[in-house]
Amino acid sequence: MKKILLSIAVAFGLSGGAAYAAGDAGHIENIPFSFDGPFGSFDQNQLQRGLQVYTEVCAACHGLRQVAFRTLADEGGPHYSEDQVKAYAANYDVYDPELDDTRPAVPADKFPANTAVGAPDLSLMAKARAGFHGPSGLGINQLLYGIGGPEYIVAILTGYTGEEKTQAGVTLYENTAFPGGWISMAPPLADEQLEYADGHQNDVHHMSEDVAAFLMWAAEPKMMARKWLGFVSLFFLGLLAVLLYLTNKKIWAPIKRKEKAA
Ligand code: HEC
Repeated sequence: MKKILLSIAVAFGLSGGAAYAAGDAGHIENIPFSFDGPFGSFDQNQLQRGLQVYTEVCAACHGLRQVAFRTLADEGGPHYSEDQVKAYAANYDVYDPELDDTRPAVPADKFPANTAVGAPDLSLMAKARAGFHGPSGLGINQLLYGIGGPEYIVAILTGYTGEEKTQAGVTLYENTAFPGGWISMAPPLADEQLEYADGHQNDVHHMSEDVAAFLMWAAEPKMMARKWLGFVSLFFLGLLAVLLYLTNKKIWAPIKRKEKAA
């Protein structure tokens, strides 16, 4: 027991310094997304709205080169019909090495890569960034709230203070969530910038949540299957434990009986 307490104390002490490096981005609020928790699932309408935000705003600079158009028809994802996906893909031009030319995309193609210099690909962004750390490097917050990738994206999109500065010819925008406090991405969203097909609220905060949820799906389209598999595995492990316990009892029963008799 003493040893355990000691190692916990050491973990606290050692991580005290590292916590700053990991958590020097601004404070990031937890958002109760529909896909949180062991039984959470993606909200199809939210994913469709998020795709709309991505298409109309973010796609101007950011690619999604690991996401295939056909996955937009997946159940548990945006779940568009095959025809809708075909029509959507055709809006993009992709380079075809066989034709040595560009052609309209088909569902089997992937989203194009980046178009703006310095803008990172967003395919895995929701898993590449962590919104929550600590306390003291223990990772308990991540256990409770998830890694916070989508929350981080929302915090970036809503974290602009309005301050700008120019540094070495580059305009930087003050952002409370971005590590270092200054980001080179101009605030991409403004209230009521687009009209949602389903008439949902379209202020910056709601658009940010929707696009963050969409990017979480893009980064982990099989999240629900993974959660379900985890649940089933634990269920069967539990069942196995009960059966082993009963088997153990049964095997030892004659010997225990003899012991008692002796
Ligand atoms: C005008 C081009 C442009 C548009 C439009 C744009 N971005 Fe960016 N974005 C950038 C650039 C450039 C960077 C790199 C910023 C940096 O590293 O300073 C960036 C960085 C990011 C980052 C990464 C921050 C990090 O931790 O590295 C995220 C997340 C992001 N953008 C999300 C979005 C989303 C979501 C949208 C759509 C709502 C969007 N962006 C629209 C240019 C753009």
